[in-house]
Amino acid sequence: MEKKLNILVVGSILMDHLATTEVFPREGQTVMGKKFNRAPGGKGANQAVQCARLGANVTMVGKVGNDAYGKELLQVCKDAGMNTEHIITDPVSPTGCSFIVVEERGGQAVNRIIVLPGANAEFRPEEVDFLKDTIDQYDMVILQLEIPMAVNERVAEYAAAKGVPVMLNPAPSTPLSDEFISHLTYISPNEHEAADLAGIDIPHDGSQLDMERVRAAAAKLRSRGVNNVLITLGDAGAALDDGDHLRFSPCAEGINAVDPTAAGDSFVGSFCVGLGSGLDVEAALRFANQIAAVTVCRIGAMPALPTLAEAEDFWKKSLGLPQK
Ligand SMILES: Nc1ncnc2c1ncn2[C@@H]1O[C@H](COP(=O)(O)OP(=O)(O)O)[C@@H](O)[C@H]1O
Ligand SMILES: [Mg+2]
Repeated sequence: MEKKLNILVVGSILMDHLATTEVFPREGQTVMGKKFNRAPGGKGANQAVQCARLGANVTMVGKVGNDAYGKELLQVCKDAGMNTEHIITDPVSPTGCSFIVVEERGGQAVNRIIVLPGANAEFRPEEVDFLKDTIDQYDMVILQLEIPMAVNERVAEYAAAKGVPVMLNPAPSTPLSDEFISHLTYISPNEHEAADLAGIDIPHDGSQLDMERVRAAAAKLRSRGVNNVLITLGDAGAALDDGDHLRFSPCAEGINAVDPTAAGDSFVGSFCVGLGSGLDVEAALRFANQIAAVTVCRIGAMPALPTLAEAEDFWKKSLGLPQK
């Protein structure tokens, strides 16, 4: 039997609170919203769940509080088939929460997010020391920036020392040390994070994109010591610069996007599973665009992340093919 892909995700676990509205409130204004959803999320847990739903073996390392949200989130991770033995319950700090406001405008949806990290902020570097001698059992490590930087830096150092590829999704936007960047194999900012990290704006109106600016931002990040720069561009798709080529892959078309929450998490998780399963870079980009498109057609973070079978059904339906 073929060996299953082993992925390690070290990162945040949050309970999302999501309000949908036709218009964002201005300063001092109250607006009547359309719907409320509470759902499990956090960039780390989302990316881990996306990988697991696509069939990978996933170990999640993170921290929740000793409360009802923490218990619920732990159970969701278990239900997704993940190894949760390294999810720590902090005795003092509450489980992290996020508040997301989604504005639905015509066929478009945009969001604004506040994260209260709670237990995620209490994660200490020494709590990942067990990885020093065990990290080589993983095919890939995925990190984000919703936990203390020192934890991420330590994990990346251990992985690089053992030659395990590291993907960093640098979100939310935070300055990164050159040493940390030098331990990464892939970095996957969205267009806003790329602009913050590289100092080069990448404005785009749908698929109208200035590829020279994408190229320049990717080159700037590559010059800091990471070989592969993957910039996700929302409804314009994604571009990957591996030093030899800049490959652009448009997002999937003909869908009805209702909530962009976790689009990037879905993309990063599926790109890693695609690559780790043997797809070449171009096919992995296409795969990730197809999976992330399904995610933006469903509400919430974790509940929106599709399994392979759900994605297959979604695309069969949208192409008018018979489903299972
Ligand atoms: N409106 C959309 N239609 C189709 N795919 C989308 C849409 N918005 C996002 N995606 C997919 O999700 C990926 C990640 O979205 P992006 O907005 O760049 O990430 P983030 O959530 O980090 O801001 C895109 O590269 C694309 O594949
Ligand atoms: Mg975006």
